[in-house]
Amino acid sequence: MTLRAGIVGCGGISRAHASAYANLDGVTLSALCDINADALNARADEHGVSARYSDYEEMFEKEELDVVSVCTHAPLHGPVAIAAASHGVNVLSEKPLSVDLETADKMLAACNEAGVRLAVSHQFRFTPLFQEAKAWIDAGRIGEFRSIREVGKGRPAGFELMEMGVHYFDGMELFLDGIEWIHAQITYDGHEVGVQDIMTSRELCKTDKRDNGIVAGDTMLIHIKGTNGGYGVMELYPRKQTQGWMMGPHILGSEGQLMIRPNPDTFVDELWHCPFDVSFPTHTPQWEKVPIDPERLRIGDGLWGRRQSIWSVRDMVTSIKEGRQPQLGGSAALTSLECVFAVYESHFTGTRATLPLKERRHPLVNRLRNTSGNRES
Ligand SMILES: NC(=O)c1ccc[n+]([C@@H]2O[C@H](COP(=O)([O-])OP(=O)(O)OC[C@H]3O[C@@H](n4cnc5c(N)ncnc54)[C@H](O)[C@@H]3O)[C@@H](O)[C@H]2O)c1
Repeated sequence: MTLRAGIVGCGGISRAHASAYANLDGVTLSALCDINADALNARADEHGVSARYSDYEEMFEKEELDVVSVCTHAPLHGPVAIAAASHGVNVLSEKPLSVDLETADKMLAACNEAGVRLAVSHQFRFTPLFQEAKAWIDAGRIGEFRSIREVGKGRPAGFELMEMGVHYFDGMELFLDGIEWIHAQITYDGHEVGVQDIMTSRELCKTDKRDNGIVAGDTMLIHIKGTNGGYGVMELYPRKQTQGWMMGPHILGSEGQLMIRPNPDTFVDELWHCPFDVSFPTHTPQWEKVPIDPERLRIGDGLWGRRQSIWSVRDMVTSIKEGRQPQLGGSAALTSLECVFAVYESHFTGTRATLPLKERRHPLVNRLRNTSGNRES
């Protein structure tokens, strides 16, 4: 059986989803939707797709799709996913799953009720490099697991948390075997974030217009406690990208370190290993690249060495064919987003926020409401 796939939102990230569906076996890219005719036609022409829509409800009504990739900005992920579920279509949502947990819960409930899958696209965990790093850790090749560190790409932290932060939380969830609690401190313009610093993501980040809802702070230090006893540290602060996007996990064990970083010349990720538990400048030459068999990077017709969404699209497609949940399906789809709101909850309460969060209301919107309520009374 060949699955029929559709995409809603034909902007930047849809390129990766479209080429994934076009390159994977057992699935075909059947329909596309965008309110912007230029974006729609450009993507559809690229893949010779004739079913083109400006209204996703109409697309779900007319096309018998098995799966849809939701590639709009985050506030639309919920409405599109719920509409897809009502037509029996499995949903692969781009990250962040939503702009608040209440909507994310509704998305999951709608998909569960309709008997379709809901998954979120955090592609990094599926790549051969992340899988290889995880295999090294599980085999004890860096000794006892100690910590994992990630640094943002340099956009203001409240925005970055929804863009790269959710990816980092997902990677930490993988390497820490689960996340127990989060403790965070947030500042804005040098002072501790308060209710007066809560704003829209577009107000906070002038250089990237993607809509990530209500956010706060330009700088965050986030501590994460893992189920395996290890710790995660995430640092998000404004910085210039002088050497490209040098992001990726740095993992420390009692007998060695692992690092995944893009090669600054090719932008292809590489896995590196160092046989010491901490770094000294004198030991740095002992970092060595871990060889990865190129055959492991082969999917469909191509070699996929770069961070491509084909890995998460493939998991969704095979999960449908095999009648199982995708790896980031069901309640796992919500984890990285819960971490975002745990960060705000922790900052404003000054305590650790334990996962899963009991409070489902948006912690920032909630505080804004309470403040304006107090002013009125
Ligand atoms: N997984 C990743 O690594 C990764 C990378 C980049 C972006 N993303 C995520 O993907 C999402 C989209 O980001 P982007 O950079 O592609 O944004 P974009 O602005 O390039 O594209 C969004 C598209 O959605 C369309 N759109 C808006 N309203 C619509 C509607 N009602 N129906 C149909 N289409 C509509 C817009 O016209 C636009 O073409 C964001 O949530 C972002 O965080 C994920």
